Amino acid sequence: MQKHQVLKIQFQNFPIPKFQNQQTMIKKVSVIGAGTMGNGIAHVFAQNNFEVNLVDVNASQLEKALQTIAKNFDRQVSKNVITEEQKKQSLANISTYTNIKEGVQDADLVVEAATENTELKLKIFKELDEASPASTILATNTSSISVTKIAAATKRAEKVIGMHFMNPVPVMKLVEIINGFTTEAAVTKTIVELSKQLGKVPCVVNDYPGFIANRILMPMINEAIYSLYEGVAGVEEIDTVMKLGMAHPMGPLQLADFIGLDVCLSILNVLYEGFSNQKYAACPLLIKMVTAGRLGVKTSEGFYTYTSGSKELVVSSLFKKD
Ligand code: CAA
Repeated sequence: MQKHQVLKIQFQNFPIPKFQNQQTMIKKVSVIGAGTMGNGIAHVFAQNNFEVNLVDVNASQLEKALQTIAKNFDRQVSKNVITEEQKKQSLANISTYTNIKEGVQDADLVVEAATENTELKLKIFKELDEASPASTILATNTSSISVTKIAAATKRAEKVIGMHFMNPVPVMKLVEIINGFTTEAAVTKTIVELSKQLGKVPCVVNDYPGFIANRILMPMINEAIYSLYEGVAGVEEIDTVMKLGMAHPMGPLQLADFIGLDVCLSILNVLYEGFSNQKYAACPLLIKMVTAGRLGVKTSEGFYTYTSGSKELVVSSLFKKD
């Protein structure tokens, strides 16, 4: 009986509304950070006819991002997902900026996808709050940092929300939308509708460590690494069990390499500290690999070894059985 009451109170405090399909007033979107997530997010908005300002302090990173976006549009042209004409128009929708103030001054929405570092994100949000119009919605693509904490760095906490895209952004359907403690219902509604306009499926969740995606994904990856560490099975066996047994497109060790082992470790630490619970403690093998700079795809070495241009999965020599 008492348990029931607690659940009811929690639900009343954090209602997750259901919305009808509608157009939003968002036309100009600024994306902060031109790394993997930033260029994917810019790609998807540009493809859906939004005006996109892609902002990064590093000019060569912007150049690299434009090349990646063009390459990914080519991929879509060759698969008949878009036409050559749509590719040209989509690319023309993107402008680049190295100055954050210029890049956000007339934005209806800013989506921040900078490096996953709390101090950096707080600094960026303070700057965004000062440089963008008062009506601009400020979204973060954080995978685990508290949206409520980020919102508190601004004077418009009610207009700050999590918009967590999945990698690769042009392919993955989900947008995990995270309501901060004080996010306005109208802002959530706008971001839900906007995600649908992008052809994505929005899921609204509340702001607790790891939200939903990483609260569930990271313990699975950590358990896979523990299974390897304890010698229960090898890299290939662990990934094959999960690929063929559970129909996952990638096994958990390959997925950890794809996400980045440093990112996995940092998210596990957020869960561990946020819940003060031993069950989220990172496997010593994961810590050791990050310390050694074996971060997965981005360093060409993780549980597997990656060779540019090859799709073959080769287990790292560190984990080869013979
Ligand atoms: N842009 C555009 N299209 C792309 C693309 C990109 N960046 N990457 C892949 N594609 C397209 C390909 O063209 C291909 O299209 P068709 O189906 O029309 O042929 C399709 O996606 C599949 O790609 P590939 O054939 O190259 O390779 P694949 O079949 O092995 O699939 C994958 C690759 C989509 C990455 C698949 O392995 C997969 O879904 N993996 C799991 C991804 C995942 O779990 N992502 C979430 C990570 S967690 C996260 O992002 C959040 C976090 O907080 C940590």
